[in-house]
Amino acid sequence: MRRTVLITGASAGIGAALARVYASRGWDLILTARRQDPLQALADELTTAHGVVATVILEDLGDPAAPERLVAAIAARGLTVDGLVNNAGFSRVTGFLDTDLDAHRAMIQVMLTAPIALSRLLLPGMIQRRFGRVLNVASLAGQMPATGGDTLYGPIKSFLIKASQGLHLETLGTGVHVTVLNPGYTLTEFHDVNGSRDQVSRAYPPWMWMDAARVARIGVDASEANRPSVTPGVMNNVMAGLARFLPDGLALRMVANHARRLERL
Ligand SMILES: NC(=O)c1ccc[n+]([C@@H]2O[C@H](COP(=O)([O-])OP(=O)(O)OC[C@H]3O[C@@H](n4cnc5c(N)ncnc54)[C@H](OP(=O)(O)O)[C@@H]3O)[C@@H](O)[C@H]2O)c1
Repeated sequence: MRRTVLITGASAGIGAALARVYASRGWDLILTARRQDPLQALADELTTAHGVVATVILEDLGDPAAPERLVAAIAARGLTVDGLVNNAGFSRVTGFLDTDLDAHRAMIQVMLTAPIALSRLLLPGMIQRRFGRVLNVASLAGQMPATGGDTLYGPIKSFLIKASQGLHLETLGTGVHVTVLNPGYTLTEFHDVNGSRDQVSRAYPPWMWMDAARVARIGVDASEANRPSVTPGVMNNVMAGLARFLPDGLALRMVANHARRLERL
């Protein structure tokens, strides 16, 4: 039986890597983001390589109406969504007060409100058909104390981690798997988009970075195994463990040093 996965933020980085993993495992794809060219190039690549059906639908998830419009566009094409990957995201390192309120709202919209809306719209069908996958891409940042400079990023990801855990419990036994993937530093366009490539490259040696293909494989494997959450990489698990067990004050001082090294404080 053919399955179809909807992947947000599929035009680059971890989203594109996840599309490659799903296609290699025989899933048809619905790829969405704002940029047509990289989405279409990926769709063509995966159709040729794996013989899957790949549909491109452009959306800006910063628009509050986008999730409902996207689901309606999928239904209008006669497609059924068996898997949902909430991956689209970005960070801002411009400082809370130097970022205007609309930009903060858009960030919450893309990384929190849209995943919640898409989950609420698509989960009932998955439960009814007794098969579904929801894979939310959060971050190691959501497992650490929040840092300055990108003040809202960590809390948004913490929220997504907790919401995923709740949904994982609510869907147990329904045939639907809900998993949250928490990447650490991963080589994608992410740090080019937020303008911090030079700082992060200076601050963190190559061995601290993972490639998107490996992160994606770990995420899809965890989803198939119905693990509630997965943090790829030994070093990232050490850091998440430290954050859990260190006294709050000490952990906060550590992330403050991190923010200073990145010139965000
Ligand atoms: N790279 C890392 O070190 C890292 C670490 C932890 C977690 N993550 C998380 O991993 C996820 C993917 O990030 P990445 O590293 O792959 O970054 P990336 O290479 O910059 O890709 C981000 C994706 O999100 C899409 N996107 C951004 N804003 C959007 C909007 N308003 N509407 C629709 N799509 C939008 C982009 O597509 P368009 O520009 O075409 O719209 C792109 O496809 C994010 O949630 C990020 O927070 C990344």
